[in-house]
Amino acid sequence: MFRRCGSTMQQGEVETLIPNTAAAPSGQRQARGAYLAQAANCMGCHTDRGGRPYAGGRRLSTPFGTFVSPNITPDKATGIGHWNEEDFWKALHAGKSRDGRPLYPAFPYTEYTKITREDSDAIFAHLKALVPVAQNNPPGKIDFPYNFQPLLSLWRAVYFKPGVYQPESSKSREWNRGAYLVQGLGHCNACHAERNPLGATTGEDALGGGQIMGSNWYAPSLTARMEAGSADWPIEEIAQLLTTGTSLRATTSGPMADVVRHGLQYLTREDARAMAVYLKSLPESAPRAQAGSPPLTEQVRQWFRQGAKIYEKHCQDCHGTSGQGAPGIYPPLAGNRGVTMTPPINAIRSVLNGGYPPSTTGNPRPYGMPPFAQVLRDDEVALVLSYIRNAWGNGASLVTKAQVDRSREGMH
Ligand code: HEC
Ligand code: HEC
Ligand code: HEC
Repeated sequence: MFRRCGSTMQQGEVETLIPNTAAAPSGQRQARGAYLAQAANCMGCHTDRGGRPYAGGRRLSTPFGTFVSPNITPDKATGIGHWNEEDFWKALHAGKSRDGRPLYPAFPYTEYTKITREDSDAIFAHLKALVPVAQNNPPGKIDFPYNFQPLLSLWRAVYFKPGVYQPESSKSREWNRGAYLVQGLGHCNACHAERNPLGATTGEDALGGGQIMGSNWYAPSLTARMEAGSADWPIEEIAQLLTTGTSLRATTSGPMADVVRHGLQYLTREDARAMAVYLKSLPESAPRAQAGSPPLTEQVRQWFRQGAKIYEKHCQDCHGTSGQGAPGIYPPLAGNRGVTMTPPINAIRSVLNGGYPPSTTGNPRPYGMPPFAQVLRDDEVALVLSYIRNAWGNGASLVTKAQVDRSREGMH
């Protein structure tokens, strides 16, 4: 399904599947561009913490060095004020800067390449209408040998194939719209896929889950039932999770809360539904080897008793005596895949850092969770997590003190 070949559709049919706005008057086109830029979360990366929108300067750390996002406001000296539609298309579609320099895939053009020319032009119209901000950003620090341009060109030759999304003629218009949004604008695969040591997603295991480069977050598989696959979810509930950040069974946190906060919550009902239809239809991947519950030796029972004590003291008030949570307020821990997932790093992260689900129109004042990094020792965090991963019908591997240690080291 992620292959781009095999479509026998003509250009005209392509355009009826993906709404085309080329003929729209410029105000309408700008508004549409603003909507698309929001769905693609361009602002998230191109805005520094506390900085001016789209003026860049945000540092993105990866195993290859630190990238600094450029200024994409229409300032002539420091932004893209001199660019035209063609230059912009080359950046989004082909990953090349105006002067022909190949861009690093820290800019997810590997997914944005699926965006249509019409949508690219609309996004450009939106950016051109912004107030120009004169802001020079410091250069990034890309480590040797990744700072070596020929290596980037080689990388691109191997891992990057430019190509606009080609609708599948056997699928509905809604499904194709969803696929277009998930694969292109939403760049879900930029986080939700395993990367090889050169930072490339190979495309074979699309949306199959992976650790986000340079962070202690795991973006779960969107195709596996044990992780965040939604084959057995009602469409409405998937759309609700994407646009409000919570549902009865799940709550988004960390980087996914940002994706919802800055982007997905603004999707129209139709687009959110289309995404849900597509996600639900993804073929289920074979279950990964799961490290299951530990054998219940006397030692393990004792650990669970200790974990239960910590739970009663620090967690139960919110998450409930049997991990049931409080609907719409505190997430359940019983039957929650975020709790039992095989790499336990997100659960560790939640307990150490606490967090808030995103504040959205559908859930304007979310309740938060306090950080426990200063309250509990690493062995206590390991004990309470091992307990909740195996209480109330849950079953998963024990969390070790060493795993909690490692997570603390990666905290910024
Ligand atoms: C995950 C972070 C991220 C997201 C999301 C992102 N960008 Fe970028 N973008 C970058 C980085 C980093 C660079 C610089 C890459 C380089 O210098 O090689 C960049 C480069 C660019 C450039 C080239 C600028 C130049 O001077 O060459 C343009 C144009 C651009 N982005 C536009 C966009 C648009 C439009 C969107 C949304 C559709 C977007 N970006 C989303 C991180 C991001
Ligand atoms: C910047 C990285 C990033 C991007 C981009 C991203 N995700 Fe996520 N996603 C995550 C992380 C990390 C988690 C795990 C935290 C959590 O459960 O909320 C996650 C969790 C999820 C979950 C499970 C939520 C839960 O709690 O059960 C779903 C569903 C999901 N993402 C869908 C998507 C879709 C659809 C897109 C594209 C529109 C997307 N994600 C884009 C990082 C990302
Ligand atoms: C004041 C209420 C409160 C307390 C106390 C609390 N939590 Fe939470 N917990 C929350 C909220 C709210 C969230 C959702 C946070 C988010 O989305 O970032 C959450 C999320 C979580 C998650 C992530 C669930 C998911 O869906 O990914 C885990 C795991 C968790 N809590 C475990 C614990 C443990 C263990 C304790 C005790 C050490 C605890 N919580 C104490 C309110 C609380």
